[in-house]
Amino acid sequence: MEKLVIHGGTRLVGQVQISGAKNAAVAIIPAALLIDGECIIDNLPNISDVKLYCEILKSLGAKVEFLTPNCVKIDSSNITSTIAPSEITRKFRASYYVLGALLSRFKSAQVSFPGGCDLGTRPIDQHIKGFETLGAQVEINGGNIKVFADKLTGDSIYMDIVSVGATMNIMLAAVLAEGVTTIENAAKEPHIVDLANFLNTMGANIKGAGTDTIKITGVEKLTGGKMYSVVPDQIEAGTFLMAAVATKGDITIKNCITAHLASITAKLEEMGVEITDNIDEMRIRYVGDTSAVNIKTLPYPGFPTDMQPQTAVALCLCKGRSIINESIWSSRFQYAFELNKMGANISIQDKMAIIEGVDELKGAPVYATDLRAGAALIIAGCSAKGTTEIFNIEHIDRGYENIEEKFKALGANIERVEYEEK
Ligand code: EPU
Repeated sequence: MEKLVIHGGTRLVGQVQISGAKNAAVAIIPAALLIDGECIIDNLPNISDVKLYCEILKSLGAKVEFLTPNCVKIDSSNITSTIAPSEITRKFRASYYVLGALLSRFKSAQVSFPGGCDLGTRPIDQHIKGFETLGAQVEINGGNIKVFADKLTGDSIYMDIVSVGATMNIMLAAVLAEGVTTIENAAKEPHIVDLANFLNTMGANIKGAGTDTIKITGVEKLTGGKMYSVVPDQIEAGTFLMAAVATKGDITIKNCITAHLASITAKLEEMGVEITDNIDEMRIRYVGDTSAVNIKTLPYPGFPTDMQPQTAVALCLCKGRSIINESIWSSRFQYAFELNKMGANISIQDKMAIIEGVDELKGAPVYATDLRAGAALIIAGCSAKGTTEIFNIEHIDRGYENIEEKFKALGANIERVEYEEK
């Protein structure tokens, strides 16, 4: 087993390169199943979720070759199975995107119910509604989801809630359907736009991604033969912004799209840090005491739920009381108990975290309860006095590339250490 050990109390200073976006990559890799041919996907984050997804594609008959750790060539000309292996799909949430992609191209697909971070109930009713509207039948049996159709026909689908996963899955399913599909009340995250851009580059006809209404005109086939570069990770960028605030540091994040960070930087400015925005890079500088702010998580362009735990750490060290309202997930405050072990003062009332600022955090042994919680604990460990040990770091490796190397380059004293579980 591995853990991270951090000797904290260091100001983080310097530059950090942002990797490709995890949540775009895990939709674009299965989208390659739609292509009757080859494609190259570049700027992939080197993380365990990406590696697992490539294993799923291989098991379905795709040829997958890593040209570099961040660039993969996928050839889906000879797909031999439409049943994804449950031992892999159970490990992470995004495995359900093979449903939309395989349904679209082969009119049949099966996956096990997906795993992923425990953030509360994670229903898939909107995915099912979308597939059924296009003419598919959906069977749920023994923990498996099977979708099949004789023919898929475009139609209008109104999403009852804004869902990233359902928007992506329906987009994938509709690409090769006959006629026009419109998704109303669609999610607008940068990874939705990135998936549409990838599919269009390979021959699809998708318009309106990034707005509430996406129009997909079915095409006969996707021919590929192109290279595509994944968008920078807005959440990784935000994580380093919060690390700068919590450690009273000065960090420049490179290779980001600063426009994607608008809701985060608006709150940072309200806290009182200095931000310099240069379109594809951003400098953040702590310039004296930071103030408490209130935050409500919302679908894009609102404040991202995936930045909520990391932001909580920065707010723990602000003057005064901050309130975070989590409106997406029912159980995303499990990290608060871990931060309280480090001297934070957070109380949870239903979907609200009330954070009373403290002067400092103190190192402690803590557990990463999910991916973003793990990132929050790294930030807390860097800012805290003394030594922090973080366990369950496999959650962090699912979504952050070379995380300890990136923190080390900013001056953090952080090591990955092997240990035997007793
Ligand atoms: N929901 C439904 N029915 C559905 C689908 C979703 O009720 O059919 C609800 C969910 O329970 C939730 C809300 O709708 O309350 C939003 O869920 P969404 O479908 O947007 O989430 P997701 O696609 O499962 C993705 C990210 C999450 C991120 C959310 C929200 C991926 C692989 N995961 O999940 O990322 O929190 O969107 O932005 O893209 C992370 O990266 O740490 C992470 C958890």
